[in-house]
Amino acid sequence: MQSIHKTLVLLPLSKPPSNMSSRMYAWFVNVVLLSMHLVSASDSDPLQDYCIPSPELSSLFPSSCKNSSLVTVDDFVFSGIKSPGDSMKTGFSSIPVSSSTFPGLNTLGMSFVRADFEPGGINVPHYHPRATEVAFVLEGTIYSGFVDSRNRVFAKVLEKGEVMVFPRGLLHFQMNVGDKTATILGSFNSQNPGLVKIPSAVFGSDIKEEVLEKAFGLSWKELAKLRKKLAPTG
Ligand SMILES: *[C@@H]1O[C@H](CO)[C@@H](O)[C@H](O)[C@H]1NC(C)=O
Repeated sequence: MQSIHKTLVLLPLSKPPSNMSSRMYAWFVNVVLLSMHLVSASDSDPLQDYCIPSPELSSLFPSSCKNSSLVTVDDFVFSGIKSPGDSMKTGFSSIPVSSSTFPGLNTLGMSFVRADFEPGGINVPHYHPRATEVAFVLEGTIYSGFVDSRNRVFAKVLEKGEVMVFPRGLLHFQMNVGDKTATILGSFNSQNPGLVKIPSAVFGSDIKEEVLEKAFGLSWKELAKLRKKLAPTG
């Protein structure tokens, strides 16, 4: 990667190959640079050992760190996932352990989630715009899968102790197919992976009704029902 970067930095200074116009060459260099940038997009590397956000300064300077002499071990410990979160109508609960709930993760480029399923409970189809997820089945039996950009589904029943990866930005879902509660632990390669749940993003947002009616072939009555059910509860 390092050497590719060096080459690219030199490219614009060098002469275009004789069979290429300089304009086309500039275009080509731009495309290469842009694609390199996209490929390497991720949380940035830390510039110090750690950066616990400073509660006093962060409203003015969001990236300011607490004075390291004031940092204690408790800044690096999170105790909020000892037990399951509040269960939703879908028989599912989750507690994100991201930099917003666990400031110790700030600048470290990773985060975590605990998710619990009642028997039959589902984690609705969703995606994380900024992270790949690795999910470990701590307890139970979970039907688990994702869909790639050609609409191919990769899914199977995972047993306790198994791990599945959900590539960054791809739609994925889970369902407890066992007769006991199930628990998974997921880790992400971003301190703030983001979460977009398809049902609420599509029907619980303010997308113009006509668009949804046409997109899904729904009558306004069917649509109203879905919208009511999936409206954000705040
Ligand atoms: C950090 O705190 C120590 C101890 O209170 C203090 O001596 C030092 O000046 C502080 N550093 C900064 C950059 O504020």
